[in-house]
Amino acid sequence: SLHSACAYRAQLLYFVADPATLEDPSEAVCYHSDGLLLVNEQGQIQACGDWAELSRSLPAGTKTVDLSGKIIMPGMIDTHLHFPQTDIIASPASGLLPWLETYTFPTEGRFGDSDHAREVAGVFLDELLRNGTTTALVYGSVHRQSVDAFFEESHERNLRMIAGKVMMDRNCPDYLQDTAESGARDSEDLIKRWHGKGRQLYALTPRFAPTSTPEQLAACGELARAYPDVFLQTHVAENKDEIKWVSELFPKNRSYLDVYDSFGLLRPRAIYGHSIWLDEQDRARMHDTGSIAAHCPTSNLFLASGLFDFQSIRHSKVLHTLATDVGGGTSFSMLRTMNEAHKVARLNNYHLTAASMFYMATEGAAHALDMQGQIGTLAPGAEADFIVMDPKATPLMARRSTMLNSLEEQLFVLALLGDDRCIQASYSAGRCVHQRDH
Ligand code: GUN
Ligand code: ZN
Repeated sequence: SLHSACAYRAQLLYFVADPATLEDPSEAVCYHSDGLLLVNEQGQIQACGDWAELSRSLPAGTKTVDLSGKIIMPGMIDTHLHFPQTDIIASPASGLLPWLETYTFPTEGRFGDSDHAREVAGVFLDELLRNGTTTALVYGSVHRQSVDAFFEESHERNLRMIAGKVMMDRNCPDYLQDTAESGARDSEDLIKRWHGKGRQLYALTPRFAPTSTPEQLAACGELARAYPDVFLQTHVAENKDEIKWVSELFPKNRSYLDVYDSFGLLRPRAIYGHSIWLDEQDRARMHDTGSIAAHCPTSNLFLASGLFDFQSIRHSKVLHTLATDVGGGTSFSMLRTMNEAHKVARLNNYHLTAASMFYMATEGAAHALDMQGQIGTLAPGAEADFIVMDPKATPLMARRSTMLNSLEEQLFVLALLGDDRCIQASYSAGRCVHQRDH
């Protein structure tokens, strides 16, 4: 859909490299204290730079929006969450497996109803946009209708979303089971219908090893080979009881990750939620195959699953991203997620900088997902998915922001104190899809 070109005046911030890998991390950041972001009629970023320089060459009559004092950055990317779990967020349980049985499975049972699925998908997408998340990797329920409903709502809003139908054919209630055959058939139908339609992309979604038979994982592996540019998402090594269960179900495999490896599910564009209890050999396999670890700190603390091992993941150079894991996670906000990621890393004796966390939520995720240059950046040519952040959204933040000495301090305050109140607006393909009222 066409709309007129628009220029935005604000602070501009995006990343051109991973700050954790540079001797001088400031070289990873592209920052304009008084910047101009020009979005074209196709919903792409046309130009990004200093106001003083670019404003002189703006075509006469270009609409200009003054957002001085605000920060424009790329929309955030949440690499692991479940839309059918929107309505059970903040449901207490003693751990992952009781939480799944008590809350998750019963609520997901309702998503065979397309009307219900559409209604929840709409609420879920609005909540993502309210929190400044413009792209997410989303689990549906086992029902194909749930994913049709999700993509219809996303397509209507012209959002860049990645989603898939859960496959599970054992160890869960009958009303939530597919079969190896029907799960593969439905997934392939959904790929053909949705992968690459508008901005929608598909992810093969075997829930986790305990709820799939070897036959289902094998069928999933075949699809993963047949459709190499389709994503794949699942859970791995989240919880000690879960891992013990996997070792009983798959006694021949060396580790939990090795189960997926043996079915050909480790590859680029494969995203492994949690990835907490991995060993050195697992990390080497993830690195060698280009697989991605999605760290979900609010979920890991809430369900007492464990602490993500930042030091080892980074030492092994495994691709890794941040994610909320709603509804196991306790917030849709990637800022709140950064807050808890920083603390989890501290307990791992690792200093996770704000620059590194904002990189992970934007350019880093795009890089990991093989979508670099498309999303997660303000560089010209990218899709104009961006957010307007108010660094003084609360009285405390306003006060704190008068006492900052560096960009890192500014970003750290946003990461540790920020939430949806800081997201003044969200734009998708150049169109405003959320505006916070005051
Ligand atoms: N493992 C299998 N299913 C789930 C889920 O829905 N949430 C989380 N956190 N872990 C899982
Ligand atoms: Zn999950």
